[in-house]
Amino acid sequence: MKAVICGATRGMGRCLARLLAERHDDLFLLGVPEDDLARSAADLAARSAGASRVGCAPLDLLKPEGIEEALARADEFLGGFDTAILTAGIYATQEALEQDPKLVAALLQIDCASAILFCEAARKRLLARGGGTLCAFSSVAGDRGRKPVVIYGAAKAGLSHYLESLDFRFRGQGLKTVCVKPGFVKTGMTEGLKPPPFAGEPEEVARRVLAALDRGRPVVYAPAPWWAVMAVIKRLPRWVMRRISF
Ligand SMILES: NC(=O)c1ccc[n+]([C@@H]2O[C@H](COP(=O)([O-])OP(=O)(O)OC[C@H]3O[C@@H](n4cnc5c(N)ncnc54)[C@H](OP(=O)(O)O)[C@@H]3O)[C@@H](O)[C@H]2O)c1
Repeated sequence: MKAVICGATRGMGRCLARLLAERHDDLFLLGVPEDDLARSAADLAARSAGASRVGCAPLDLLKPEGIEEALARADEFLGGFDTAILTAGIYATQEALEQDPKLVAALLQIDCASAILFCEAARKRLLARGGGTLCAFSSVAGDRGRKPVVIYGAAKAGLSHYLESLDFRFRGQGLKTVCVKPGFVKTGMTEGLKPPPFAGEPEEVARRVLAALDRGRPVVYAPAPWWAVMAVIKRLPRWVMRRISF
């Protein structure tokens, strides 16, 4: 695999990048800040015992005008990437978002608008060379309107919807779209939040995502029980959703 990854400095993205490096895939990391990126690239190169080529370049999803140049640098370093992975994202509680319109704007930009712009730029490059794999981390929060994730859920719903449509439109042309829908996973993003039942570890999610990438599965819930949880939640009537706090 020749993979460009945005979000590999922390959490699930870091675990996934480590698994890719351990099996000697070539990687190009995108993100902020630059010293963290360089440290992560050196760590991954060491994990591959020098067998993976690992490069990096800055990309701040709050500045989507940088996406094209960042992907061009990835293409140049990797000799044309065949896989693009977007794990980068931010989370804020509904209460914090309701107090802070600037935070709302940043979250919508990073988790939805820039995420889609990143995928659009990557899929054009992949399709121009006959296809490849495009994987983005959405969330179970995008599956159903829910009280605790009104705004975060809306951003992720937009991303999930986009990825589903992309799969319908371009799979026949060789583009495999993989939409990852994590439930609650114990990373820096969820630090300080009370873990619900079925909370997962980033390593197990990364292993599940890697298998989905290899098979080109269009949707992957992780940890696995979240598929069943959301299957129930999606079927609950509105009057129930108004009463429960989930
Ligand atoms: N953890 C969960 O329970 C959970 C549940 C559902 C969905 N998700 C989604 O899964 C993905 C990964 O989550 P995680 O828990 O692994 O998160 P994490 O540990 O907080 O890592 C997030 C990554 O996103 C990067 N990032 C944040 N803002 C960025 C920006 N403006 N430009 C570029 N990169 C940026 C971070 O880089 P720096 O910090 O180095 O800047 C970091 O590498 C996210 O999209 C998240 O929404 C997570």
